[in-house]
Amino acid sequence: MTSTYELLRQRLAEAFDSLAPGADPVLRTSERSDYQANGVMALAKVLGRPPREVADEIVARLDLEGLADVQVAGPGFLNLTVCHELFGRQLLELLEDPRLGLPVTSQPRTVVIDYSAPNVAKEMHVGHLRGTVIGDALARMYRFAGHRVVARNHVGDWGTPFGMLIEHLLDLGEDEAVASLSIGDLDGFYRTARTKFDADDAFKERSRARVVALQAGDPETSRLWRILVDQSVAYFDEVYAKLDITLTPGDVIGESFYNDMLEDVVRDLDAADLLVESGGARCVFPPGFSNRDGEPLPLIVQKGDEGFGYAATDLAAVRDRVSRLHADEILYFVGVPQTQHFEMVFAVARLAGWLPDSVRCEHVAFGNVLGPDRKMFKTRSGETVKLVTLLDEAIERADEILEERGRDLDPAARLALPVQIARAAVKYADLSTDRERDYIFDLDRMVAFEGDTGPYLQYAHARLRSIFRRLGAPWDHDAVTFALANHAERHLALGLLAFPEAFEAAFRTLQPHRLCGYLFDLAQRFTSFYEACPVLSSEGALRDERLALCELTARTLELGLSLLGIEAPEQM
Ligand code: ARG
Repeated sequence: MTSTYELLRQRLAEAFDSLAPGADPVLRTSERSDYQANGVMALAKVLGRPPREVADEIVARLDLEGLADVQVAGPGFLNLTVCHELFGRQLLELLEDPRLGLPVTSQPRTVVIDYSAPNVAKEMHVGHLRGTVIGDALARMYRFAGHRVVARNHVGDWGTPFGMLIEHLLDLGEDEAVASLSIGDLDGFYRTARTKFDADDAFKERSRARVVALQAGDPETSRLWRILVDQSVAYFDEVYAKLDITLTPGDVIGESFYNDMLEDVVRDLDAADLLVESGGARCVFPPGFSNRDGEPLPLIVQKGDEGFGYAATDLAAVRDRVSRLHADEILYFVGVPQTQHFEMVFAVARLAGWLPDSVRCEHVAFGNVLGPDRKMFKTRSGETVKLVTLLDEAIERADEILEERGRDLDPAARLALPVQIARAAVKYADLSTDRERDYIFDLDRMVAFEGDTGPYLQYAHARLRSIFRRLGAPWDHDAVTFALANHAERHLALGLLAFPEAFEAAFRTLQPHRLCGYLFDLAQRFTSFYEACPVLSSEGALRDERLALCELTARTLELGLSLLGIEAPEQM
C-alpha cells in the first residue's frame, strides 16, 4: 500500500514541479493540522516572487480531491487536513496488510553490517552493548526492508597478546583452561596471563617465541590458539542468546581471517605509489588528515617490526567486502573514538581504488554509556561492567516489579517475562537515545513500567491484547467503517498512518531512536484515546471501529518493537 504521507507528497510534488522542476514540497506531519508543507518559501525564492502568491498558485494547481483540504497559513505554509474518506480507506488497507504499510524494496542491496566485535579472551563489557544492540536493530530493519544483510562480527582474535595467552593456557593445562574460560571468566584468564608476563622473564620469553610460532602458522600453536577463539566465541554466543541478538557463530569473521590478504594490501598500496616509509613504519598519508600542529597524519599499515596493524586488517576487510561479497553498503557500528581511524581507512581504500563511490561506506558512531557520576560506567570497585551482569540485574529488577504488581498471569508467561522485560529495558534505553550522544545507565529508570521505556511500550501492547482476551469471542474486522468522530480517535489514526515515515526516517539516517520516539508517541496517543473512548462497553459499529484501532495499535507496537529487537509479550 502507498502511505498517506506518500500519497499527499506525490500530489504536492506534481504541483511544485509544475512551477520549478524538482522543487521539494518539504512535507511533514504537524501538530497544527495533520500535515504541513513548508517548501513554498524556498520555491518563492527560486521564482523571485512573494511566497503568499506562490502558495496560492500551488493551491490552485493542486489536485487533492478526496485526499485532503488545504489552507495557506503564515508566510506561505500549506496546512493539510486529511479527508475522511482517505482516512477510512488507508486504515482498512492497514488492517489487511501484515507489514502495516512498510514497503519491501524493489532494489535489494547487499549490506555488510560490521557490529558487536568483542575481543577474544576478553570480557564482553558494557562498552560492547551499544554496538551490539544498535547494529542488531539496523540489521533487522534492513532485512525487513528486503535487503540482503551480511553480518560481520569482526572479533579481535589476533595480535601479540596471544603469545602470553597461549603460554598461560599451556601452564594451566588444556582442560583446566577450557573450564575457566567456559564459565565466562575471560578477564580473569587474561589478567593472570598479563601478570605473569609482567613479572616473569622466562614466561615473557616463551610468550614472544609463541607469537612468532603463531605468525609462522605452526600447527600445534594454531590448535591452541583455536581453543581460545572457540571458547570465547561460545561465550559470546551465550551473551547474544541472553540478549536476543541475531548474530551467530557463523557471522564471526575475526581479524585473523584477513591475515593472508595483508601482504597484498601492502604490495598493492606500494604499486599505487601510496606507501611512504616513516619512522620505520610503512604508512599512507591520505590528504585532508592532519594532527593538531597541522602535520599530515599517517595511517600505519605495517609497523617497523614487519607486523601488520588494525588498519591493515580493516583495509583488507573493505577490499574483501567490496570485491568478494559485492557489498553495496558497508556499515560499521563502532564507538565515536574510532571515527578518525575509519575516516582514514575509507579515504585510503578510495585512493587505492578498492572502494568505488557507488558503495556507501559509513562509520555509524555511537557515544558512551556513563555511570551516575557521568564518568565511564564502572563497578563500585572500578572495574568494567560485564554485559551479562547488567542483564542479570535487570532480570532481577523486572522480577521484583512483577512480584510487587501481583497480577494474575498465566504461569508460563510469568516465567518468561523477566527476561523479556529486562532485554526491552536495556535495549530500549540504548536505542532511544540519539546514538551519537552519551547516556547514563540507570537501571531503575529503564525497567520502570512508566515513562519513555521499553517495558512501558511492552505494557501498552499487553494492555491492548488483554482487551481482545476480555472480548472472549473472535472478532473480525470485515464490517468496519471508520467514522473517527472523536478527536482522540482521529489523533490515534493519524499516528497509525505515520508508521511508514517513522520507519523510513530511522532507517535512512541509521537512527533507531526515531523509531523509538514514534512508538512512544503512538503509545501516548493510545492512552488518550483509551481514556476518552470506551471500547468494550461501546456497541455496534462504534465498538468495531474502536476495536480496529486497538488492533492496529497493538500490531504497530509489536512490529515496531520487533524491528528494534524487542519482544512484545501478550500479557504483563
Ligand atoms: N574489536 C574492536 C574493539 O573492541 C572493534 C572492531 C570494530 N570493527 C572493525 N572493523 N574495526 O575495539
